[in-house]
Amino acid sequence: MSNNFNFFLLHFLFSLLLPPLVFSHTHGNPASEIVDIINKNRTDQKLPNLNDTPGLGCMALQYIELCKGNCTDNNVVNCKPPEDDFTEVFAPNCGVELPTFGTITGHIVGCQKNYLEPSLAFSRILIKDKRSLSLLRNKSHSEVGVGLVGAHKGPFFWCVLFGNGKANTTFVLENRGAGIKQKQGCYSGSNTPCSEGKKHDVPFFNLFMFYVFILLFKLL
Ligand SMILES: *[C@@H]1O[C@H](CO)[C@@H](O)[C@H](O)[C@H]1NC(C)=O
Ligand SMILES: *[C@@H]1O[C@H](CO)[C@@H](O)[C@H](O)[C@H]1NC(C)=O
Ligand SMILES: *[C@@H]1O[C@H](CO)[C@@H](O)[C@H](O)[C@H]1NC(C)=O
Ligand SMILES: *[C@@H]1O[C@H](CO)[C@@H](O)[C@H](O)[C@H]1NC(C)=O
Repeated sequence: MSNNFNFFLLHFLFSLLLPPLVFSHTHGNPASEIVDIINKNRTDQKLPNLNDTPGLGCMALQYIELCKGNCTDNNVVNCKPPEDDFTEVFAPNCGVELPTFGTITGHIVGCQKNYLEPSLAFSRILIKDKRSLSLLRNKSHSEVGVGLVGAHKGPFFWCVLFGNGKANTTFVLENRGAGIKQKQGCYSGSNTPCSEGKKHDVPFFNLFMFYVFILLFKLL
């Protein structure tokens, strides 16, 4: 009886520790790591390296923030933001200077209930069929940006945007992105660490639940 309880308590305590650790077992920025994996895959095929463009990364994050909550049971992002959202919502939110808004040559989105580390996100979520592989290898691209976001219990969303602009002249962020208030998730090329948005609330909520749990137990 008491052993069972201790086990349960241990399990419970341990599970409290898990959610805040979701992104933290990747040392750097997982979105930038995915850009590196994309470039490794391309250069291994003798295709040119893509410029890591923070403006595209920030818009990729905006795109999936909008689609959060639209992941089907088959891990398909069931979400079609209007084309105009890029110039009317995502770019202004990021502070992309509109005259530098270039051509988006492709996008890939994916979602899954659990967080996957960058190499698995690349092979299982983003580049998992012939269509996405041919998109990855399209010769029109010259730049790329990746965004990812997830609620602490999932699902998680990934988005890759490709563009064909010249380095540093398209999708330029005002003030080099210094003014972006990144509430959740992360994007490639950003110096801001990933954020889960509710990170600061979680420990307090957990403590509260723990307290309720102890009270309930005393009543029994
Ligand atoms: C997300 O799914 C809901 C319900 O199917 C739909 O009404 C909504 O338009 C979707 N969101 C986007 C941005 O497509
Ligand atoms: C590559 O992307 C461009 C721009 O989106 C598109 O027009 C073209 O058809 C693509 N090429 C291939 C081989 O898929
Ligand atoms: C590139 O990625 C695809 C999809 O994961 C994989 O099938 C292929 O082997 C990779 N190519 C190289 C050269 O790593
Ligand atoms: C783009 O800007 C970065 C940082 O300012 C710089 O290191 C890089 O050399 C530039 N690239 C090109 C092609 O101008």
